[in-house]
Amino acid sequence: MFNLVKGTHDIILEDADKYSFVEQTLIQVAEFFGYQEFRTPIIESSDLFQRSVGDSSDIVRKEMYTFLDKGNRSISLRPELTAGIVRSIVNNKLLALGDTPVKAYYVGPCFRYERPQAGRYRQFNQFGIECVGVSSPYRDVEVISLGYFGLKMLGFKNLKLKINTLGDNESRANYKEVLRNYFKDHLDELCSDCHDRYSLNVMRILDCKNPNDQAIIKNAPKISDYLSEKSKKYFDDVLESLTNLGIEYEIDESLVRGLDYYSDVVFEFHYTSSKGLNYGALAAGGHYNKLVEEIGGPRDVEGVGFAAGIERLVSVMNDDSLFADLSFSLDCYVMPLDLQFEKNAIEVATRLRLNGFKTDLSLENKSIKAMLKKALRKNAHFALIIGQDEINSNSIIVKNLKKEEQVSIKLDDLIEYLDNQIDENEHSHHHSEE
Ligand code: HAM
Repeated sequence: MFNLVKGTHDIILEDADKYSFVEQTLIQVAEFFGYQEFRTPIIESSDLFQRSVGDSSDIVRKEMYTFLDKGNRSISLRPELTAGIVRSIVNNKLLALGDTPVKAYYVGPCFRYERPQAGRYRQFNQFGIECVGVSSPYRDVEVISLGYFGLKMLGFKNLKLKINTLGDNESRANYKEVLRNYFKDHLDELCSDCHDRYSLNVMRILDCKNPNDQAIIKNAPKISDYLSEKSKKYFDDVLESLTNLGIEYEIDESLVRGLDYYSDVVFEFHYTSSKGLNYGALAAGGHYNKLVEEIGGPRDVEGVGFAAGIERLVSVMNDDSLFADLSFSLDCYVMPLDLQFEKNAIEVATRLRLNGFKTDLSLENKSIKAMLKKALRKNAHFALIIGQDEINSNSIIVKNLKKEEQVSIKLDDLIEYLDNQIDENEHSHHHSEE
């Protein structure tokens, strides 16, 4: 027996249907907003993430799966997708076409060596979008509204949107200076992590969760007092538009985000399930104005995006029963009563499948009782039974497992009979009319 690698999990059977459902719903919303799919590699060169997510971030410092390949290149499993998407936009010269913004959506696994806990895995899946080549605050609004709309489509009510601005580069540089001066006098009272943050990225002290540090953090200078006119107006435009769209938000000045590429607007969607469980942010993102240049693209090209954690979405949706009935079902289950009728069973099953009926069959030489049990367990609508009498008369027994009725039907009439029995919208799969 082999155990799962710590922090990983299997997504199988009905659980996999839930993941697909969540991903497909978000994909549909993204396409509705004019986004197109991007699939980038899971492995990228390590310096891509050092440059973008940032050398001073926890992700790059402590959480990356980094290794040397046989050619001595430093490779990392992607901890997120924004860096790879922007790299791909730059490498493929999509910005040079002048057809901006480039609107990308993506779905796929990410890897972070974190301490596993509720809502936190070492391999997890993200859905996300990046809108690159933007200049208007209303692109930020569009991206936030896509996240909001996507989560609504999944059935979430009482979402909490936390939003903040980190200011433009100039505002942020001034503010960091002020913060460093403020925290310098309190360093002895702060936790050891905050000592690291002090030298790496002083703003991250603001989102320290250590209760002892809270009093000091509470009295720290606020970014809102250090914003340039431009940054302040940008943030106000975004907030005003969100209000007009009916998207409620809460300004959270301790929201600084753990990735280094952000500037101006940042946001997170939070939700507490009816069980009172909070798995952390369901989705998070923000605006970036130096990332494209850092990755080798043109100067002054800005972007905005967010990513949602599929594991967290599935967990809260399970807790709050937000999944409609996704239980497995079949239209037909074909049951040969003897080994010698297996070849007839595969013929019938294949014909049913080609006619759009979701079908499985027994080829295990089981008793009729065992086969019926299996048909019920697979939630089949019809059990189709083939015995000697049926072979002799070119017919088949159709047992309606929902109504507990059975009839003998000529094989030539089978498809038409089932078509009439199954209401179009009851079909497990869409079925083309002949
Ligand atoms: P992030 O906040 O690091 O941002 O991750 C986004 C989301 O991924 C989180 O809100 C959470 O739902 C999920 N997530 C993160 N870590 C884990 C984990 N260990 N286990 C399970 N779920 C997790 C980013 O990754 C940015 N790239 C988002 C972005 C896109 N910003 C701009 N564009």
